[in-house]
Amino acid sequence: MALPCFKLTPLQSRFAASLTASILVIIIYLSLYPPRFAYAAELDSILNEDHNHLWLLDELLDGDGALYGEEQTDAQHEISYEADFLGVHRSIIGRAEEGAQTLRNNVPGRSNGQIGLTDYWEFPSDAVWGEHGEVGEGLPSPLEERPALVMRDVSELEEINGEDAAVEGNTTDLKRRQTERPGSQRSRTVYISIDVCQQPTSNGTTTTEAPQLIMYVSTSEQNTKPGPDKRESQANIPLVEGFAQHTVNATGAVYIGVHEPDLQPGLSGAWNYEVTASIDAPYHSHHDGEPLLLFVDSDTTSALLVTDNLTQANASDPVYRRWMDLAEPPFTMYAFSKNETSIRGLQRSYCGLDAVPSGKQIEVTRTMTNRGLGNKPKEQFHIRGLNGSTTYHGFLAMRGNSTASGDAVISGGGHLWSAINFTTKSDANCRIISNLTFCTEVAYAVPSNDETFPSATDLANLYNARAEALYENFTYSLDQIACNTTSTARYSLARNCTDCAAAYKTWLCAVTIPRCEDFSAPASLSYLQPRNIGQAPISQSTFSFTSNSNSNSTDAEALAADTTLRNRLYANSSRNPLIDQQIRPGPYKEVLPCEDLCYALVQSCPAKLGFSCPLPGKGLEKSYGRRSGSGRVECSFPGEVFVRSAAAKGVPGGLTALLVAVLVGVFGLGGW
Ligand SMILES: *[C@@H]1O[C@H](CO)[C@@H](O)[C@H](O)[C@H]1NC(C)=O
Ligand SMILES: *[C@@H]1O[C@H](CO)[C@@H](O)[C@H](O)[C@H]1NC(C)=O
Ligand SMILES: *[C@@H]1O[C@H](CO)[C@@H](O)[C@H](O)[C@H]1NC(C)=O
Ligand SMILES: *[C@@H]1O[C@H](CO)[C@@H](O)[C@H](O)[C@H]1NC(C)=O
Ligand SMILES: *[C@@H]1O[C@H](CO)[C@@H](O)[C@H](O)[C@H]1NC(C)=O
Ligand SMILES: *[C@@H]1O[C@H](CO)[C@@H](O)[C@H](O)[C@H]1NC(C)=O
Ligand SMILES: *[C@@H]1O[C@H](CO)[C@@H](O)[C@H](O)[C@H]1NC(C)=O
Ligand SMILES: *[C@@H]1O[C@H](CO)[C@@H](O)[C@H](O)[C@H]1NC(C)=O
Ligand SMILES: *[C@@H]1O[C@H](CO)[C@@H](O)[C@H](O)[C@H]1NC(C)=O
Ligand SMILES: *[C@@H]1O[C@H](CO)[C@@H](O)[C@H](O)[C@H]1NC(C)=O
Ligand SMILES: *[C@@H]1O[C@H](CO)[C@@H](O)[C@H](O)[C@H]1NC(C)=O
Ligand SMILES: *[C@@H]1O[C@H](CO)[C@@H](O)[C@H](O)[C@H]1NC(C)=O
Repeated sequence: MALPCFKLTPLQSRFAASLTASILVIIIYLSLYPPRFAYAAELDSILNEDHNHLWLLDELLDGDGALYGEEQTDAQHEISYEADFLGVHRSIIGRAEEGAQTLRNNVPGRSNGQIGLTDYWEFPSDAVWGEHGEVGEGLPSPLEERPALVMRDVSELEEINGEDAAVEGNTTDLKRRQTERPGSQRSRTVYISIDVCQQPTSNGTTTTEAPQLIMYVSTSEQNTKPGPDKRESQANIPLVEGFAQHTVNATGAVYIGVHEPDLQPGLSGAWNYEVTASIDAPYHSHHDGEPLLLFVDSDTTSALLVTDNLTQANASDPVYRRWMDLAEPPFTMYAFSKNETSIRGLQRSYCGLDAVPSGKQIEVTRTMTNRGLGNKPKEQFHIRGLNGSTTYHGFLAMRGNSTASGDAVISGGGHLWSAINFTTKSDANCRIISNLTFCTEVAYAVPSNDETFPSATDLANLYNARAEALYENFTYSLDQIACNTTSTARYSLARNCTDCAAAYKTWLCAVTIPRCEDFSAPASLSYLQPRNIGQAPISQSTFSFTSNSNSNSTDAEALAADTTLRNRLYANSSRNPLIDQQIRPGPYKEVLPCEDLCYALVQSCPAKLGFSCPLPGKGLEKSYGRRSGSGRVECSFPGEVFVRSAAAKGVPGGLTALLVAVLVGVFGLGGW
């Protein structure tokens, strides 16, 4: 045995001698009383650094006899093992694993990593057993995780809605977790999540996407550097679209490895990611399942979308008011053209989508609204800056917890929901209007012309004023009816004048303000009714008017030139003469009002008013559409949205073709 030779000063010699002696004494002592000493040392060190370990101390002391006795249980064994190992590990190596970076609760570790290498992170034991983060008041009611995208029949859907309503308003979950006495549990749930903010890109020579990162998680002291080279006691979690989440029940430190795979030729750049451990809730979230976002309508530069009902609470419920009165709407959204390649591989990462520059060119106006069926609170998005005839992916998102984001905020990394697809219109003569004062339920594209009405507000006001004036004349007629009288003298036992007025308003807004579609929409969409083909197309139109249809003309051009249609009133003009005279939108297609709006009107109002609906085969098809279960908007009714599943509700009322005679335009509106 070759000992290195040192020349020591007398002082150093004395110190070396005493050090050697001390170590010898310790070794002898340890060999005599090994476990107790280890515990005492560990407990002391814990006591000094973390009060939250007090319960652990109690437990170990209480169970002292049992710990070393024959009746030792598995759980106790686990704790004694963990604590024992932890103590030794700490005293030898120090606080953090060498080469590993320390994570704090709800504070992301950010790294650029190095291609082909693995970054190591440690969420230390004192953070696992540390103080919980500060829980905010939360949203007015929790958002339920939505069921997966599968077709369900209506009865099943209603059951699920019922369940939703039952758990609605329960915000105690997170708070309860926070107030739990630590002594009541032996492990703590740790939520680990990772978002990729940036990834390597192609230099143009390859269409290959960057590979996804891989996260490794270990709770074992035997594997403090989990990574691709290890096989045991770790969870391997490949990221999907720039995101992964993993939950562990930890008794001590949690170790995380993030591996950046090698790049294929043609890819360059680096990853930039955020990895976070939290004892409160996942810092980053992605919600798959049915999208919470619904498409309403679009024009050539903008689109209107809404969230689904955020609560089923009634208007009298405080929860309903809290949603409607939110100082700032909680959600935001992103929209990317289908051709946008830089979102590929990042579609589940809030951080990733937020960093894509093309997302910033789109302006999003957010408001809370209760428009739509049931008049429940929802958030509306009017996004501008879009291109015509383009398919977009729309992502619903929440920045942080909706009021705060970033380091130390629970869920501060944001939420993202699965995307929906929508396509903008191609003809420039349909335009979205919303926020009308009288026809409050109207929010869709209407026939327009940027030359006659450059301002959408003026256009909305024109339609709105027209409907309001017609309604006023109707109320004069209603005043002639014995409405406020004893039930025997009333026109109907089931309906009163309030019902009649409401049904009239709904019907009136739908027929006065037609829902507009591209004239160039495919002929296969047979529920669309061509209108106003007698008028010259507006100058920005995508099709030109040709009187002789040649073989190269588009569907739209052929349709506009159809001489039979040009002689039919229902095709060569609009439902409402005001449109042709003042707006002059040129040819467009109309999504007809739903026939049940007409039936409801006839049903609710006194016969004396003379309402009736056209008969099938005798004009009904040219004036009214029918609700379909396809998820498409095949007829217009207030607050209609595109739905995803075949869950359309049945048409209200049992009236059918018994309702007869052609609608007489008593109040100034013809119904073809
Ligand atoms: C978001 O977090 C902040 C800070 O933790 C908190 O004050 C706020 O109430 C939270 N917001 C919601 C909606 O929970
Ligand atoms: C909320 O959850 C708690 C605990 O799970 C339960 O006791 C309470 O009844 C729930 N409240 C509602 C409104 O469902
Ligand atoms: C964590 O523990 C809880 C019970 O305390 C259990 O329900 C859950 O499945 C565990 N989670 C994991 C990931 O082991
Ligand atoms: C792209 O990468 C490939 C492979 O690394 C390389 O051969 C090519 O020259 C690069 N092209 C450009 C434009 O940088
Ligand atoms: C998107 O890509 C398709 C073909 O891949 C192309 O025809 C279309 O013009 C592109 N759209 C936009 C808006 O760039
Ligand atoms: C919202 O709730 C109402 C009933 O309260 C329901 O009719 C409607 O389909 C729900 N969804 C949407 C998007 O309106
Ligand atoms: C949206 O379009 C993409 C293809 O561009 C498709 O993979 C995806 O399933 C579509 N999403 C929905 C909800 O239809
Ligand atoms: C809706 O109209 C009201 C008044 O007419 C106005 O105060 C409000 O800002 C408008 N909202 C939007 C989103 O345009
Ligand atoms: C309302 O009725 C009056 C009198 O019959 C008529 O002059 C007026 O044009 C009507 N208003 C509308 C908007 O039709
Ligand atoms: C019927 O009476 C109610 C309240 O008494 C009143 O608000 C309403 O305007 C009356 N309706 C008619 C048509 O007179
Ligand atoms: C009309 O009937 C509805 C129920 O259909 C009722 O809520 C309302 O109070 C009635 N209005 C009048 C004025 O009687
Ligand atoms: C029809 O299109 C073809 C090629 O697209 C072109 O050669 C031909 O001249 C066109 N005919 C007319 C009448 O425009």
